[in-house]
Amino acid sequence: MKYTVKEVKRIFLDYFKNHEHKQIKNSSIIPENVDSLLFINAGMAPIKNVFTGQQIPESKRMCNMQICIRTNDIDSIGDRHHLSSFCMLGSWSVGDYFKEDAIRFATDLLTNHFNIPIEKLYATAFSGDEKRGIPADTDSEIYWKKVGFKDNQIVKCGFEDNFWRMGDGESPCGPCTEVFYDTGAEHGKSYEESGYFDDKKRYIEIWNAGVFMQYLQKEDGTYTNLPFNSVDTGSGLERLVMTLNGFDSVYETEVYKPILEFVAQNAKTPNTQSLRIIADHIKTSVLILNAGIEPSNAKRGYVLRRLLRRAIRHIRTIGAEPSLILEVAKRTIDNLIECDIAPDWNFSKEEIVAKIMQENDKFSKLLGNGLKEFNNFISREENIESGELKPELVFKLYDTFGFPFEMTRELAEENNIKVNEEEFNKLFEKHKEVSKGDIGKVFKCGLAETNEITTKLHTATHLLQAGLKKVLGDHVSQKGSNITDERLRFDFNFERKMTPEEIKAVEDFVNDVISKNVQVVKEEMSYEDAQKSGALGLFANKYGDVVSVYTIGEYSKEICGGPHAENTGDLGKFKIAKEESSSAGVRRIKGILN
Ligand code: SER
Repeated sequence: MKYTVKEVKRIFLDYFKNHEHKQIKNSSIIPENVDSLLFINAGMAPIKNVFTGQQIPESKRMCNMQICIRTNDIDSIGDRHHLSSFCMLGSWSVGDYFKEDAIRFATDLLTNHFNIPIEKLYATAFSGDEKRGIPADTDSEIYWKKVGFKDNQIVKCGFEDNFWRMGDGESPCGPCTEVFYDTGAEHGKSYEESGYFDDKKRYIEIWNAGVFMQYLQKEDGTYTNLPFNSVDTGSGLERLVMTLNGFDSVYETEVYKPILEFVAQNAKTPNTQSLRIIADHIKTSVLILNAGIEPSNAKRGYVLRRLLRRAIRHIRTIGAEPSLILEVAKRTIDNLIECDIAPDWNFSKEEIVAKIMQENDKFSKLLGNGLKEFNNFISREENIESGELKPELVFKLYDTFGFPFEMTRELAEENNIKVNEEEFNKLFEKHKEVSKGDIGKVFKCGLAETNEITTKLHTATHLLQAGLKKVLGDHVSQKGSNITDERLRFDFNFERKMTPEEIKAVEDFVNDVISKNVQVVKEEMSYEDAQKSGALGLFANKYGDVVSVYTIGEYSKEICGGPHAENTGDLGKFKIAKEESSSAGVRRIKGILN
């Protein structure tokens, strides 16, 4: 019998509803009540406070399907069963039944409703942790045996594998017992034969059949008892469907298969890994965008940016058109609805696709040059030390071309070169400090608040100065600058009113550079080197030892704290709205972008 996603979801939820569990709603993937989590990573996360007694549950027995995001093992995406987003089928007892009933329900559902022969199932049990003072879970072993598991179908595991908590922050937690499915001899030696429980290949986890919530993990890493005992279970729907159908990977389920096929049809050189990464990352990006997150360089926005950029690069790898990403996103949205696993939509399909298009446009421009630079780096022996690409070059790819670290790692690995994450992180931290220093004590180019529009106006200000020099003469230079959400204001030394022709010539200069899609390149160097490089700069005594120099092709080079647009193509159309006198010998321009 073939199981569909819809059917497996229905069988699971019906089973628990038939055993007095109330089905609760799927929550947003953005945690409302958990600061330590970027995204909801388990079905229990949105309701975690019911386990501590801080919140009254809708019912003592509950179940649902929750969309979860887990991007900590992003590098595993592309194997048989890791996904960056998935649906978790969950069931809960809050201060109601405990271990024995949970194990009985799990076995009944798997063997009698999903018809899995019991000898194909293995269960793990917590072996205790002396250091943390948490005893072994010997009860679970007894109950698994009671429902028909043999001794050799029960595997004892330690804290890392069999103690579940939501993260490192405060969290209800406890020992857990997980059910694994034996995929057969073609995937490796059996546990009985080798004494080794191969949970990577032969045995696939299909259900965390019970976190036995007994403890509260405190911020300081200590544990106290919860006021009552609860059960939290969770099973990855896509993985369960894969297992029940005997598929080799989750990508054979209808959640992914049509998407992979579509991408493959539109690729010149498809490869399995890339197809899987594209399908997985675009699906997760759609879900994150729907939650109102935009690509950025921090926190949730950066997770989204990394997923989109990695997908964009793999679309290039398989020789497909960059715009394929948009059609993949549309089909992904339709398919989530078709499979009955869609979130509540906060945005329309068109709105989500438009946001992907923006990031695609932005990154596609950088990607080509970045790849050239990368190939250039690795072609020179002096850039590779002990098999590793020099950290500063990895950082340059991040800083100048927007290459997320793992993307460079992946590119490097494809060329048998390693990268050093620790060293990259050090440079990243150092850079953050330098930038902070820049903003604090360095000339800010008139930028008070930074957001997307002020950042663009800031770049337009550099181009305006370059244009004025070109049209009015090199003696013209900045006397002051101020940027708000609406306009830039630029003061410069010049004796008379500008003519309409001069104004138009300056506007044309700026718009010409905009239309050329010139990359804005940032470099850090000593003040002395910056001066030598011909960079414009004011108030020399206000600069720190290391300064940032922003170069816009052959058109502009200025010492500046930033931030700037990544590419002039992002700016829109520039217009001088006003040209007037500011004080004796100083003129003032107000400029806008639209
Ligand atoms: N919270 C547990 C897990 O994520 C059970 O759902 O594995």
